[in-house]
Amino acid sequence: MNGRNPAAGTVFLTVFSADLEAACGPIGGLTACLSPAEAQSARRFARPGDRLDYLASHALFRLLAAHRLGRGFAEARQLEVTRWCSGCGSTGHGKPAVAGASLSLSRSKGAVMVAAGPEGTPVGADIERIPDTLHSGFDQYVASAAERIALAPGDIPARLRLWVAKEAVLKAAGLGLSVPPAEVHLACDSANDDCSTLRADSPAHPQVNGLGAVFLPAPPGYVAALSSAGPTPLTRLSLTDLLPPRPAA
Ligand SMILES: CC(C)(COP(=O)(O)OP(=O)(O)OC[C@H]1O[C@@H](n2cnc3c(N)ncnc32)[C@H](O)[C@@H]1OP(=O)(O)O)[C@@H](O)C(=O)NCCC(=O)NCCS
Repeated sequence: MNGRNPAAGTVFLTVFSADLEAACGPIGGLTACLSPAEAQSARRFARPGDRLDYLASHALFRLLAAHRLGRGFAEARQLEVTRWCSGCGSTGHGKPAVAGASLSLSRSKGAVMVAAGPEGTPVGADIERIPDTLHSGFDQYVASAAERIALAPGDIPARLRLWVAKEAVLKAAGLGLSVPPAEVHLACDSANDDCSTLRADSPAHPQVNGLGAVFLPAPPGYVAALSSAGPTPLTRLSLTDLLPPRPAA
């Protein structure tokens, strides 16, 4: 597969920020994939790790957008990325978009994730590193009443799976965390015997009703989920799908 033959359906990648930085070395580094504004924006992060994650997430977002649109990696930096916040209507923050595709990005402590789907079919991506501890109000903030009953005491990975699935759904809806995750309920999709797909509903936020969420392969110590409005086929891409072949040593 290459930039001229994008996969149909919904596609995603999860990579370590440092691996993407290394892979982009031969094409001029991460900033060669970014707009000047994004490269500048990265400077607000005081910690080098956070700065790298920001640069990597936006570089991967643009590379995937270029791939999705059947364009070469060299065009990634020129794509027009617009934003819109459903909360306040601002075009300065909120869900990022590129004409011709539906896209989402996420980053967490050394790893980044992006997803792309057909234009008009919302997608939401979320990846998180599993922490050692959670704050005491986590269950109250994240889980609905029924979900709280099902959570085993001390099961942090299960709580993080719930978190990424809900954040992916809220990102697909364009709401982000303007909606407390506990106001969304996830249940097994009755069409799947193995509960591999969850369905969202929220009486207070009908935009999320019917959105699906699936868990995706993630590096050890991380959890990742993807939400989509449609039953499109799901394909995992790799960096070789987005970047030119490395020159022979
Ligand atoms: C954006 C948000 C979901 C980030 O969650 P996070 O786990 O810290 O970060 P992630 O790395 O997973 O995702 C961040 C990315 O989500 C995307 N995003 C931002 N708002 C989004 C929205 N409403 N819907 C979908 N995606 C959104 C952006 O691409 C953002 O990265 P960027 O700002 O560098 O472009 C959360 O902080 C949030 O929703 N904040 C805004 C709350 C809000 O709407 N307040 C009202 C403002 S008027």
